[in-house]
Amino acid sequence: MPVLEIADVGEPVLREQARELSVQELESPEIQRFIDDLVETMHHAKGAGLAANQVFRPVQVCAIEVKNNPRYPYKPNIPLTILINPVLTPVADETFQNFEGCLSVPGLRGVVPRWASIRVQALDRHGSTIDHVVKGITAGTYQHEVDHLEGKLFLDRVEDTHTLCTWETFRRHYEGEFRERVKSIVERFGS
Ligand code: NI
Repeated sequence: MPVLEIADVGEPVLREQARELSVQELESPEIQRFIDDLVETMHHAKGAGLAANQVFRPVQVCAIEVKNNPRYPYKPNIPLTILINPVLTPVADETFQNFEGCLSVPGLRGVVPRWASIRVQALDRHGSTIDHVVKGITAGTYQHEVDHLEGKLFLDRVEDTHTLCTWETFRRHYEGEFRERVKSIVERFGS
């Protein structure tokens, strides 16, 4: 399975609204192979998620998985999840401040407000219905990936540009405090 090229910020494809897939398209061997390649590319780049726009194909497919990720050592694990045509709806008013990075924005991180609880409605890769609620840090990861399918980057949601930092300055100045915040979010929401 080939590792696909990842689009960097500035590529117009990252700003496109991805189109929905029909169930018939989803079942095609070509799209199933593409999903395998998307997962392979996410693993290779050590991402917590990867959306189809990020590999130059604006269709509504994204992959999410956190398994003891070295890029995000504080993130709770998430089993491999493929979302097709996802729709997210906040189920409570509460938000939290998440420190995010993105494979398409190399080297940069920043603080983004995210809903603390969201309902996820989508299809899985076999066309079965997904309908569940995700919370906490995991909810932040879902929102980041689904944003990609709407042509949005985390940069668009950064409210205070003074929070922008590199991975190195994140470690030096913000990681300690953020780890504490993550701990309290995970204690509260269980994820
Ligand atoms: Ni991203």
